[in-house]
Amino acid sequence: MKENNNEIDVFWNKVAPARKILKEVHWWISQYNDILDKDTCKMLIDYDWDWQPSTFSNNKGTAEKSEERVLMDQVWCVEKDEPYSILKKSVIKVMNMYAKEHKRFSCIHHTDFRINKYGVDGFMSKHCDNIHHSHGQKYGYPQATVLFFLNNEEYEGGELVIGEDEKIKYKPLTGSVFVFPSSFMFPHEVKKVTKGERVSIVSWLM
Ligand SMILES: [Fe+2]
Repeated sequence: MKENNNEIDVFWNKVAPARKILKEVHWWISQYNDILDKDTCKMLIDYDWDWQPSTFSNNKGTAEKSEERVLMDQVWCVEKDEPYSILKKSVIKVMNMYAKEHKRFSCIHHTDFRINKYGVDGFMSKHCDNIHHSHGQKYGYPQATVLFFLNNEEYEGGELVIGEDEKIKYKPLTGSVFVFPSSFMFPHEVKKVTKGERVSIVSWLM
């Protein structure tokens, strides 16, 4: 019996430090600069989109108090839309870059592109992206989330927080892209915009 207890002690001695290291999930967040040039970002913002107010969804469907979870306008960029091809080219580029950095990552599909526009007071509350609908995917759960930042020098507030540490806030450069796993380990939110308009694009890798 004593011997077994020792074995358990040894097991935990090994796992506990490993667990501490794995908690550093930020290692799985990648940033790629200059994926879209400034003119393309401007074109994507100014395009004649049919903006609609966003509603918040979860695995059970749209949340009842959607307005407490998200405040922004959104539109889907699909294949028939002119800007689709440039976004497709860019998302494939970053998908390959992320796969190069993370050897066991492998995706071959991406969803359509959802463009998010946050005005003053706009925000998105903390959530995870591992849901099987509302991302426009035809099957399964997304493996990774791709975020394009279109105008990050033009607004205040609206920082991106990924993970549980509120002190780590991201505000990437215009034209840059973030990629991170869509799993439950990567809750994220967009803080309230306090000035200007924040526009970003999201796609999910499958
Ligand atoms: Fe998300």
